[in-house]
Amino acid sequence: MECFSIKGGVPLHGEVTISGSKNAAFPVMAATLLTDEPCVIRGLPELSDTRFMAQILASLGAQVRFKNGTLAIRAKKIRGFADYDLVRKMRGSICIAGPLLARLRQVRISLPGGCIIGARPIHLHLKGFAALGAKIKIEGGYVDAAAKKLVGATMFLGGRAGSTVLGTANVMMAAVLADGVTVIESAACEPEIVDLADFLNVMGANVSGAGSPTITITGVKKLHGAEHEVIPDRIEAATFAIAAAATDGEITIKHARADHLRAVIDKLNEANVSVKRSGGNLVVRRQGVLKPVDVTTLPYSGFPTDVQAQMMSLLALAPGISIITERIFESRFMHVSELARLGADIEIEGPSAIVKGGRPLSGAPVMASDLRASAALVIAGLAAKGTTQVNRIYHLDRGYENMDAKLRKLGARIRRVEEQT
Ligand code: EPU
Repeated sequence: MECFSIKGGVPLHGEVTISGSKNAAFPVMAATLLTDEPCVIRGLPELSDTRFMAQILASLGAQVRFKNGTLAIRAKKIRGFADYDLVRKMRGSICIAGPLLARLRQVRISLPGGCIIGARPIHLHLKGFAALGAKIKIEGGYVDAAAKKLVGATMFLGGRAGSTVLGTANVMMAAVLADGVTVIESAACEPEIVDLADFLNVMGANVSGAGSPTITITGVKKLHGAEHEVIPDRIEAATFAIAAAATDGEITIKHARADHLRAVIDKLNEANVSVKRSGGNLVVRRQGVLKPVDVTTLPYSGFPTDVQAQMMSLLALAPGISIITERIFESRFMHVSELARLGADIEIEGPSAIVKGGRPLSGAPVMASDLRASAALVIAGLAAKGTTQVNRIYHLDRGYENMDAKLRKLGARIRRVEEQT
């Protein structure tokens, strides 16, 4: 297995270009199943997860070519079955359920189960399908959803932690070919949902209100082939911004959208990090000593749960007490004990982590537990004195395109090596 070996203490300087959004990629790729005509999706990140998503689409019968970030696909004849192995390996693949239900009027898909960051149920996706008239049966670890016809409906999709991103995406995709009007209340407002709505509309759908908590979908008879480019990855941009701040560097982030990053920029500013727009780019620079900040993760436009771990690494360097509260996923604190191995002083109290920042970090071997935890450990390693070995970086490769190469270009001393056991 590969790991990163990082010699810390080098401030990052230079330019980095952000890749296409992983979390926008999945629903947009899945939406191509809604038409039997050819579609082209550009700007996709080259990740193990996007390649796997392309394989899933091929396994459903679509003709697929995925090269240099471009997916050319034609789902002329498809089947509506996704087995346990597909969904278990990549939870994001659940968003094929909506388009398959819309197109075939029936789908059989494995329940994804939980993952390291939390339980991750899908009952809100199913509630939306049922509201459109689908009969739902759960048996043997599979969900069967079937309907003679889907009929538009008004539904409330809010849950325990607020809205659901992939649930909203799934129900939107199921509704685009339904008879009549669907209104999703408490819809997710994430930019990835807006990106999906944009693509669906280019395909001939009639979706309005995406980006707000009320999305209205007027069903159409048929969708046609279309081309689309996915939005930049706001979580990757946030990760690089935090890495620059943690190492006391200054970087220019290209292909990033400040309007998607407002909550992150706000918290960085509070922590004494300036983020300025300059000719369509973002320039990130620490202003001096970092300040402690309290952060609570929330659905968009709040602070993203996908940046919580990286922010914790930064706040471990800020003298004083920061309180980070995780409101979206119940067990998304796996990085805490690994950050402690580097010298961070963090205590967990229910849904909050109390970060007593400002202690010097020193390099050590650490274990990545999930994608964003891995990024947090890389950031801490870049800021720590000495060498940090981040093991199990396959998690990181699922969601960051060439992270080590991009960091090297910014001056980081980071190498990809075989894990020493
Ligand atoms: N929830 C329910 N019932 C449901 C669905 C969700 O209770 O039927 C709960 C979840 O348990 C969680 C909350 O609602 O507490 C939000 O979950 P959501 O459904 O929004 O998560 P998701 O759509 O499965 C996407 C991203 C995640 C990101 C979350 C939250 C993709 C592929 N995944 O997951 O990304 O953390 O939204 O923003 O888009 C990552 O990139 O590292 C990642 C985990």
